Amino acid sequence: MGDLTGKVAVITGAGRGLGREEAMQLARQGARVVINDINLPDAEEAAQATVEEIKAFGGEAIAVFGDCADSTDAENLMKATLDAYGDLNIMVNNAGFCRDKTIFGMSDDEFDSVVRVHLRGHFVNMRNATAYWRDKAKSGEQVYGRLISTSSEAAIYGSAGQPNYASAKAGIIAMTMGAAQLLAKYGITANVIMPRALTDMTAGGQTAEMFAPPEDGSFHMFDPANVAPLVGYLASPEAEKISGEVMVVWGNEVSILQRPKALDAIANPKGAQKWEVDDLHSALASHYNDDYVSVWGGYSVPPY
Ligand SMILES: NC(=O)c1ccc[n+]([C@@H]2O[C@H](COP(=O)([O-])OP(=O)(O)OC[C@H]3O[C@@H](n4cnc5c(N)ncnc54)[C@H](O)[C@@H]3O)[C@@H](O)[C@H]2O)c1
Repeated sequence: MGDLTGKVAVITGAGRGLGREEAMQLARQGARVVINDINLPDAEEAAQATVEEIKAFGGEAIAVFGDCADSTDAENLMKATLDAYGDLNIMVNNAGFCRDKTIFGMSDDEFDSVVRVHLRGHFVNMRNATAYWRDKAKSGEQVYGRLISTSSEAAIYGSAGQPNYASAKAGIIAMTMGAAQLLAKYGITANVIMPRALTDMTAGGQTAEMFAPPEDGSFHMFDPANVAPLVGYLASPEAEKISGEVMVVWGNEVSILQRPKALDAIANPKGAQKWEVDDLHSALASHYNDDYVSVWGGYSVPPY
């Protein structure tokens, strides 16, 4: 089960945290892995350490440094992968960082840099991987392709202190759904994970305490290693029928999210004509009574 022998995987931001665990998981399943991380000294050192750890258990890995959202660096990542291993089969977009602020205090740069690293980071690497697979399929070659994107529950429940991050993570879902539709004819799958784990990203602030390991040494629900097996499974031949899905993953749990659907469709009682504001009020007010809780779930907007 889950044998990836001969397959080639790229994982962005794999020097630390979730990416590191995912890279090790794919390597343990037999994939040759390309560890990407940003070209900064501590990130390069971390990426190189992941490579060494993989080699230590007999796996194959190389590190390729560069900004996941930079077109030239992404092209270089693709080229280095093909030069080293002659193929690409699994593209895990994972890299990113946060710059949390409420919307009224957020600068343009805080917004742009976070949208850039997550959304553009997914875009450039998905573009390169999918173009490679399409060209290969068109030339009559067999293609094995798996796209795994990293979103966050912030995308669907809202996140009051992360307007930049939540928007980028929502865009990633939309982009991956489109890729799943487009690539189905080639047998390529594209799925989204929404992890929860204790990493550098979540080690401060609100999540630090929530995600901390239990003092009694029992199962650590927020160990990033708990997320990696799902990535290994989605990358595997056994998951060939799973595409266009969004899964929350942490601890010993995987939640398959329902696709958005209309809660209620209300037609204008006056028939085929434009709504009047009064009629909309008659039709909608009963939904938004004092018992109303936002359909967007957990972090609901209080009824005003
Ligand atoms: N940890 C969680 O609970 C959680 C929850 C939801 C989503 N996520 C997502 O999971 C992914 C991994 O996060 P993590 O928690 O492991 O964080 P992390 O900070 O431990 O790791 C992120 C990695 O990405 C790298 N990186 C940052 N910018 C980069 C760039 N421009 N190019 C290449 N690499 C870059 C960092 O150097 C680091 O190695 C992120 O996309 C994050 O948004 C994490």
